Amino acid sequence: MNAPRFVTPRFVTFEGVDGAGKSTHLEWFAQTLGTRSGHEVVVTREPGGTPLGEALRALVLHRPMDLETEALLMFAARRQHLVDVIGPALARGAWVVCDRFTDATVAYQGAGRGMPIARIEALRAWVHPALEPRLTLLFDLAPEIARQRLDATRDKDRFEREAQDFFVRVRTAYLRLADEEPARFVVLDGSGSIDHIREILEKTITSICL
Ligand code: TMP
Repeated sequence: MNAPRFVTPRFVTFEGVDGAGKSTHLEWFAQTLGTRSGHEVVVTREPGGTPLGEALRALVLHRPMDLETEALLMFAARRQHLVDVIGPALARGAWVVCDRFTDATVAYQGAGRGMPIARIEALRAWVHPALEPRLTLLFDLAPEIARQRLDATRDKDRFEREAQDFFVRVRTAYLRLADEEPARFVVLDGSGSIDHIREILEKTITSICL
């Protein structure tokens, strides 16, 4: 696949540390975006989004592995996702709302696990040289509150079992990305009420549908 070039792709991503609350809002956001824009909305996730991607997700979330293997599997799943789902959806004019994308690799494998950013950038340039989200909703939450939420989860995966300092690094990296690209990011306080977050999401939808 030649990477499609979209000047303003209808590509929105949700990001944040585990437990920050993005999943609570994603479906509502997608439905509201569909109603407001009148366009098809494809909701998907990473790692995952295709049968192969979901199989890779089960591996990276549950099997012990080397850090570089982990990053390569994230990008392998991403590549298949771009070819089978994201690329075709954008090409037919749909919005794509994706639960995590390459910012997660920068935050988790880069800042969290210590993989050199240059390697992640090389993989990004290889796998999706011409596609970035036009909007990223970053759910921000203090790691100690995220930890409490995660502790209530049974059957934690490899990431959810990480110590708090891992999530401190992940959160810091996300906030740095948001600082670097203020036109792309909207940072939401994950400890805010559902109504308050929806209010901000609604305004954001209005601005991207113009
Ligand atoms: P989720 O629970 O939000 O679906 O995400 C699954 C986990 O995968 C989450 O802990 C973050 C992690 N992840 C990475 O480490 N790197 C990535 O590139 C992606 C997409 C997810």
